[in-house]
Amino acid sequence: MSESKLAGKAALVTGSSSGIGQGIAIRLAKDGADIVINYSGHPEGAQQTQEMIKPFGVRSIIVKADLSKVADCQSLVKAGIDAFGKLDILVNNAGVEKGSDFVDVTEEDYDFVLNVNLKGVFFTTQAFVKGLFDKNMPGRVINISSVHEDMVFPHFASYCASKGGIRMLMRDLAVELGPKNITVNNIAPGAIITPINKSMMEDKAKLDPLLANIPLGRLGTVEDVAALASFLASDEAAYVTGSTYFVDGGLIRNYHEQ
Ligand code: BGC
Repeated sequence: MSESKLAGKAALVTGSSSGIGQGIAIRLAKDGADIVINYSGHPEGAQQTQEMIKPFGVRSIIVKADLSKVADCQSLVKAGIDAFGKLDILVNNAGVEKGSDFVDVTEEDYDFVLNVNLKGVFFTTQAFVKGLFDKNMPGRVINISSVHEDMVFPHFASYCASKGGIRMLMRDLAVELGPKNITVNNIAPGAIITPINKSMMEDKAKLDPLLANIPLGRLGTVEDVAALASFLASDEAAYVTGSTYFVDGGLIRNYHEQ
């Protein structure tokens, strides 16, 4: 398939001012899609994404939205539909994590993580699907979850709860929305070189044991993740729904005996 395999499509990528979201926004633009770039705290990152998209000659808009607020999820989707006339593809990428011992997790920290990672995905998807229903259109929902939708991550209980929630949300919606020709899948990245992992990457005592657990022996790149998002968004993935695809260098399947 040519590089313009998404020509004529419009995609909303949440949290596309940095990291995996930025990489996916750039890749989908390269494939020909118009892009809604979303940020919550860093407009300069969103502008950087827009600059990087420019050479591909697609349309793009930047929309600020705090995805922990349902009204923002709805206005974000509306802004995309107003700008491009429709949205075909939703990539629920925005996510946060807070590490702490389970007994020390505060209500505030719990709400922060669950509201962005699960409630935000739930209501952004709802607004997106309503937009599809209005126009009787097919659509693609791609959630960026994590290996931790399936694998434990001690001291990150709220993060695991949110990602496990996304796994079941994806499965449920794949069945409910299948008859409308809306596919729903998860991409579960492992350890990827992004800002969320900055402190881990700078701490050899944390990085080395993690690398030892990755059969492919390296951290992933945002391009590794974006390549799969590009496939799931494309016509070639028309019959793919209801599953999680791991992009983790084999991390989740690893087992060692000393
Ligand atoms: C987390 C990272 C972690 C990685 C592998 C990701 O979902 O955001 O903090 O290093 O999983 O454990």
